[in-house]
Amino acid sequence: MSDQVKLIRKDLKKLKPAPNLLDYEKVYKEFTWEKAEEELIDFFDDGKLNISYNCIDRHAKGKNKDKVAFLFEGARGEKETYSFGDLKTLTDKFANVLVNQGVTKGDRVFLFLPSIPERYVAFFGTLKTGAIAGTLFAAFQEIALRDRLADSEAKVVITNAVLYPRIEKIRKDLPHLEKVIIVERGSIEQPRGAGLVFYNKEMEKSSSEFEIVHMDKDEYSYMLYTSGTTGKPKGVMHVHGDVLQAMVTTKYVLDLHEDDIYWCTADLGWVTGVVYAALGPWGLGVTQVLFEGRFSPENWYTVLQNYKVTVWYSAPTAIRLLMGSPVSPKNYDLSSLRFLASVGEPLNPEAIWWALEKFGLPFHDTWWQTEQGAITIPNYAVMDIKPGSMGKPLPGIVAAIIDDEGHELGDEQEGNLALLASSVSSMMKAIWKNEEKYNSYFMGKWYISGDRAMRDKDGYYWFIGRADDVINTSGERVGPFEVESALVEYPDVVEAGVIGKPDMVRGEIIKAFVVVKEGVAQTDELKEKLQQHVKKHLAGHAYPREIEFIDKLPKTRSGKIMRRILKAKELGLPIGDTSTLEDY
Ligand code: WTA
Repeated sequence: MSDQVKLIRKDLKKLKPAPNLLDYEKVYKEFTWEKAEEELIDFFDDGKLNISYNCIDRHAKGKNKDKVAFLFEGARGEKETYSFGDLKTLTDKFANVLVNQGVTKGDRVFLFLPSIPERYVAFFGTLKTGAIAGTLFAAFQEIALRDRLADSEAKVVITNAVLYPRIEKIRKDLPHLEKVIIVERGSIEQPRGAGLVFYNKEMEKSSSEFEIVHMDKDEYSYMLYTSGTTGKPKGVMHVHGDVLQAMVTTKYVLDLHEDDIYWCTADLGWVTGVVYAALGPWGLGVTQVLFEGRFSPENWYTVLQNYKVTVWYSAPTAIRLLMGSPVSPKNYDLSSLRFLASVGEPLNPEAIWWALEKFGLPFHDTWWQTEQGAITIPNYAVMDIKPGSMGKPLPGIVAAIIDDEGHELGDEQEGNLALLASSVSSMMKAIWKNEEKYNSYFMGKWYISGDRAMRDKDGYYWFIGRADDVINTSGERVGPFEVESALVEYPDVVEAGVIGKPDMVRGEIIKAFVVVKEGVAQTDELKEKLQQHVKKHLAGHAYPREIEFIDKLPKTRSGKIMRRILKAKELGLPIGDTSTLEDY
């Protein structure tokens, strides 16, 4: 496939400002994490560090004190600006709020909020105390929330009046949850009850001086739950030292310069939001835009235009929705844009060609995972793009294609996409309370991504698909087991098998095969009720857009659902090896 690809050539002379990474081959050869750390990270005198110090305090103490960190536009059109100095004061205050509530190093503090500045204040304030910050997507409903808050034994949740009822419903199942902090912004009537604390009141009372906790490089900073094929979501643990790779990639891949106005459209509930709408850009002291409003082509083009965004990091589904819209970007003044990047799912070449035509700029695909903590295989400003390819390994990182036994394969051969574990500076350090799962990611020296890929003769990597049953819908990772579990909670359902079905816009949609109880009518109305049930109880984005009733699910003799058979049948593909299949 790679031989016939039309290249997008880069002309260094035309790139303004000159990219931070000028010569990929040279930097790849000479790069060491030690040198990068020396250049980018500030340590305290005792050799320890804190992410919040590197992302906020050091800027507030220096020439960037009054520099804009955050241009915020709320869902109701309100506009606010925060400098690094403002953020230092606010995060110090919030750290004091948490300590006053009994939070200490290592406690889990979870944020369940929409995209508002308080979410960022809470995130960085939490890191200042040495507690572990967990972020939650605002679309989560009680099943998704219970799984995460119970497993992590969260002590504090920060939320608002609109979202709080979902926490209230499950509070009885969360014996470790001591305090819920309610952010009042834009609120309807405030909830009342034991253990509720109000953000504004506490912030007003608390001191704006906080003794930031010094952390070792490998002490936990944030955790994110992510889905695999089996079981409930797992808590991926990252550490304070992980800010290094966030910064290296923001510099070399997203190519942020001091004067950029940067917009990462990802939500803080996902890893891209944490790393590229928080750690990376603020580590480098760059101004970013935070837009709370909904996605629509008009809204997004208006944000790009009004804030004069220069660097934009987005995702394929959003780009495809923009492509399919009658609203043309040509009706907006987007002349400030100079660099575009994308992450989360395969970026089809058409999307890159479309961007080149409409913005005069290509999207740069980047590949990584929650577990890896930062970009690992991307395209670069300076490097020619082969549309459809994810790019080449980041300086510092060794990638390979390996077979199922861990042997390296040559160019042009499909296999498991693996990374030399020791070469990924921001690699997860644990799976929360699940060592077995953590160990299962590694084969000898290799970290196995679970993605299938190949490398071409020029060293570019090409994504082929997942090696497991994980679904990627609109760039969001959904575990089939979670959706199946939610479906079988519905009284009429006996069992369910869930797959990702290819979709032109969303990459994949969730499709459920459902077996209902005898005598239950298999109607469209029931399908609708099942969709509502998943939306209401698991998460707004994780419901099956398609449902098909079947009499029996294909299973192994030991009772495991064989989703690959459901998928093969759905796609009209050969079913493959069925030696473990029970009579079907
Ligand atoms: C998929 C998101 C193709 C992949 C940062 C991976 C991609 C999973 C790309 C991780 C890409 C991410 N091309 N597939 N550029 N980026 N993926 O943990 O299957 O939410 O394993 O991390 O998304 O999803 P996660």
